[in-house]
Amino acid sequence: MSLLDAFSDILQRDKPLAPLTWMNLGGPAQFFLEPRDQAELQKVVACCHENGIPIHVLGGGSNLLVRDEGVAGAVIRLANASFAESSVDGTTVRVGAGALLSQAISVSVQAGLAGLEVLAGIPGTVGGAIRGNAGGRSGEIAETCRSVTAMTLKGEIVTRSGDDLSFGYRSSSITEPFILEGTFELRADDPEEITSRMRKVWIMKKATQPLADQSAGCIFKNPRGLSAGALIDQAGLKGTRLGGAEISDRHANFVVTHDGCKSDDVLRLIDLIRSKIADQFGVELDLEIQVWSRE
Ligand code: EPU
Repeated sequence: MSLLDAFSDILQRDKPLAPLTWMNLGGPAQFFLEPRDQAELQKVVACCHENGIPIHVLGGGSNLLVRDEGVAGAVIRLANASFAESSVDGTTVRVGAGALLSQAISVSVQAGLAGLEVLAGIPGTVGGAIRGNAGGRSGEIAETCRSVTAMTLKGEIVTRSGDDLSFGYRSSSITEPFILEGTFELRADDPEEITSRMRKVWIMKKATQPLADQSAGCIFKNPRGLSAGALIDQAGLKGTRLGGAEISDRHANFVVTHDGCKSDDVLRLIDLIRSKIADQFGVELDLEIQVWSRE
């Protein structure tokens, strides 16, 4: 009998995680749970907390590499529709963290509200986008996100706004494990204008990134004032392959995968890139993707 048996309706054991990630790599989760609503999530989280079961929160799986040995403890995903509701009130849009970022963008565009369209083409959920301040050269989610509701490791609900909510490059001040909802302050604009801006962002992305391949987006954060992709390219590493993992020919900060690729191939390629860039340019590259392991 396991401590999580009370949740047998929503519990799966040894659940393969690879299909739930964009890299499609890695081992299983010891426990995998998809709570049906906030009250159930609270119970699951409290049970994990009381019993010392580590929690991993899975969003859209687009910025994540799961190691081949899998993940110990509970992987929790807010995939139920109750976590993806949205509403529009004037220029304010509230979106559940489980919704895809693309859904949040289309809700806003349809309402004639501008601000989120700069994030066009970024995969993943609203929760993941808020936590990591998703964005790119055209803008980031921090510019419009005004308030965030989150759940602590004990199951308490907190709302962060004003001084309690800040963002940095690919980071946020949110320390709670679960983001439940984000509120965005947008501005009224002509839907056609918004759509045309969105298209431009999307065309730019398609022209420079290997979107047709299996990848987790950019692997490394850009070092201050530099581009990780440009450094890796200048080091002559495009096309370098280890096992089934290869540095994209199109954009050097992307690792694309081939049939039979293992997480370990990607991790070895990451180590190789890091050591070459440190040797050649004296720059330490930090990972942008999350890596999940058994510990
Ligand atoms: N470049 C190269 N070779 C390459 C890749 C890039 O020379 O292989 C050069 C480009 O020519 C350009 C410069 O490096 O002069 C910057 O490249 P790019 O415009 O593609 O931007 P980036 O800094 O590499 C960032 C984000 C992307 C985001 C794009 C566009 C990071 C780590 N990356 O890339 O975000 O899509 O801007 O807005 O911040 C992601 O985070 O997963 C991601 C893909």
